[in-house]
Amino acid sequence: MLISFVSAKGSPGVTTSVLALASVWPRTAVVVEADPAGGDVAAGLGRGAWPAGAGLTDLVVDTRACGADDALRRRAVRLAPHCPLALAGLGAPQQAAVVPWERLGNEFRRITDADVLVDCGRFSPSDGTAALVASSDGVVVVSGSSLRSVRATARLVPLLDDRGGHRGLVVVRPDRPYDAVEIAESCGAPLLGTLPDDARAAGVWSDGHAAGRWFVRSALQRTAAALAHVLISGPPAARGAAS
Ligand SMILES: Nc1ncnc2c1ncn2[C@@H]1O[C@H](COP(=O)(O)OP(=O)(O)OP(=O)(O)O)[C@@H](O)[C@H]1O
Ligand SMILES: [Mg+2]
Repeated sequence: MLISFVSAKGSPGVTTSVLALASVWPRTAVVVEADPAGGDVAAGLGRGAWPAGAGLTDLVVDTRACGADDALRRRAVRLAPHCPLALAGLGAPQQAAVVPWERLGNEFRRITDADVLVDCGRFSPSDGTAALVASSDGVVVVSGSSLRSVRATARLVPLLDDRGGHRGLVVVRPDRPYDAVEIAESCGAPLLGTLPDDARAAGVWSDGHAAGRWFVRSALQRTAAALAHVLISGPPAARGAAS
């Protein structure tokens, strides 16, 4: 299964949310950082010491000789026991032009022994990542709850029509000030769930802070575990339609 995570401008939290979800995913999950604006995982989670050869450009080079599935298996790394398997993003935005996004999407989607969670960063229909989003089984729109975030997300959602499979919304740090149900209604996307305001746990993912014993019991990690089950099943409407 291939799930793309996208955001609109003004809604920080995509990278943190994808890493948190993948770390508690009930099946094998691999995070691919594919933000066309450039990657943060190597400098953030990896604190600048991300293993050589474990990046998206390395995978792209491999795909000249083998499938993206084999390349992903070879290149993705688990930085520490609490971390998901992951591939760090582009070193510079101009590298996005050489990534065969559509091919990667199609090949990631066919992987059966792992779910691929792709951090696409801010979505623009003119970015190459739009082709990857279009081949996804599910598209998760990550939004904040401020007026600025919600307005930007409401403008983004229609751009995703007919792209990818099931589409749904995850609200990070709800109730600041708008609640998640209200946001989903105004954006016209089914609500998949929320992730709480938890700066301490978020710092583990965004800045490579130490994950002490408290971490697995943190609000972010516990909520992410419940949300991961929802994402695997698809939005409520899709589940209803399938049953
Ligand atoms: N649930 C959360 N609770 C508290 N802080 C959070 C949460 N999620 C993310 N943050 C914080 O928000 C900041 C931005 O997070 P992150 O890097 O994940 O956003 P992003 O959307 O990927 O940003 P960019 O557009 O730069 O790639 C980080 O400092 C991170 O720790
Ligand atoms: Mg990011």
